[in-house]
Amino acid sequence: TNYEPIDFVLFGTNGDLARRKLLPSLYQLEKAGLLHEGTKIIGVARQEHTPESYAELVKENFLKFAGESLCDDTWEKFVARLDYAQVDMRSHNDYAKLSEHVNADRVMVCYFATPPSIFGDICRGMNAAELIDDSVRVVLEKPIGHDLASSKVINDQVAEFFEERQIYRIDHYLGKETVLNLIALRFANSIFATNWDHNCIDHVQITVAESVGIEGRWGYFDDAGQMRDMVQNHLLQILSLVAMEPPSTLAASNIRDEKVKVLKSLRPIDSSNINENTVRGQYSGGFVAGKEVPGYLDEPDANLKSKTETFVAIKAEIDNWRWAGVPFYLRTGKRLPSKVSEVVIYFKRQPHNLFGDSFTSLPPNKVVIRLQPDEGVQITVMNKVPGLTSSGNMSLQKSQLDLSFSDEFADMRIADAYEKLLLEVMLGNQALFVRRDEVEHAWKYVDSILNAWKTCSEGPEPYQAGTWGPVSSIGLLARNNRSWYEGK
Ligand code: BG6
Repeated sequence: TNYEPIDFVLFGTNGDLARRKLLPSLYQLEKAGLLHEGTKIIGVARQEHTPESYAELVKENFLKFAGESLCDDTWEKFVARLDYAQVDMRSHNDYAKLSEHVNADRVMVCYFATPPSIFGDICRGMNAAELIDDSVRVVLEKPIGHDLASSKVINDQVAEFFEERQIYRIDHYLGKETVLNLIALRFANSIFATNWDHNCIDHVQITVAESVGIEGRWGYFDDAGQMRDMVQNHLLQILSLVAMEPPSTLAASNIRDEKVKVLKSLRPIDSSNINENTVRGQYSGGFVAGKEVPGYLDEPDANLKSKTETFVAIKAEIDNWRWAGVPFYLRTGKRLPSKVSEVVIYFKRQPHNLFGDSFTSLPPNKVVIRLQPDEGVQITVMNKVPGLTSSGNMSLQKSQLDLSFSDEFADMRIADAYEKLLLEVMLGNQALFVRRDEVEHAWKYVDSILNAWKTCSEGPEPYQAGTWGPVSSIGLLARNNRSWYEGK
């Protein structure tokens, strides 16, 4: 391996993301023996802490969020790496204090787990303290902007101090084991590789359903909505991986070149075609998993006039040779019946029927790639019903080929996406991070839809919490005699 000692500087260490995800993930890397023995973790925030009180806080948070108990040996090693620098991140003069905690001879990874509004301040502060050189890597959390224009401002601020090759933009879906497996499935298996186009595929569905609501994040969410929170990043990234051309290698530039081509080929949706291609919804009160939950407008701090969408469905078209005429239906929402992310590839029917009604009454092949939970891959095939019937009159039945990750990899722990991504940053591999042009093309697509929605007189359609979204989302597919995958 090419592990090297790192000064891992966690800006915003007291924030939600750092506490829930980043620090527990670093601990897991420790447990797996994947941190170099010389690596240090330096938390940065405004609050006052001694190294001991910081360590205590990290421990408390781990116990609260990680869902497992601390392993004494691992913790002992981990705590020895922890350090804390009290810095007011908006005050450039304050960054000199950070210099005392890092070592100029080592690679510094700076994770900006802060609102993007202070990315610029952090860069300028680091610059003032002469902490920036060629070897620094910066990790940026989403949201990168609110639209194309604001994303450019943020990216420009960071680009003033760092080259693109130093910038790691996180989309945590790219760190999910099953999302990465899309690359393996597609390009390691000729049964998929050769059938992956408009000749064989009828349409594709990508669902990222969540059962949670907005979890006390009203302020952030109402300004963002499901389109910016989920579609601009996670869904379009999944779509790019499903649709991209084979990269010539797995190197970052090759994968990202291919993904960006897909994003560039998305057919724009604007006010001329918004109604037939999109549905947006907002949840009302209902029951999720047997528990009564409030509607979006009844959430604490709600603005009763909010037209923010908590559900989005899109019929996306990719205008290129491979995907001509093959729609990609995207669907994501809060307060849906369960948390499930899956990609379903619907294949076309065979051109000629040898089997009579038995053939036409069964669905054509389908590949269901379950990203989470119950990770796995299922292929629906038509199979002969065994029996001593005449071979001229075979009857068929629908059967399933089933790969379940929990059976296949029973003894393996599936790492959290952030563990994977933090490790990749420390290794200096940008392949699983989003390049600036990807962010911008994704915004372009999303901005056009958001602008078209603004001109519509109606707001989002209500849907009851615990259902699969507004009725119109059924219509989005039914218009072409299709329907959403329902787990069968
Ligand atoms: C985040 C969104 O990026 O992804 C959240 O901001 C969402 O609103 C979350 O709940 C979903 O991630 P996961 O890994 O739980 O599917």
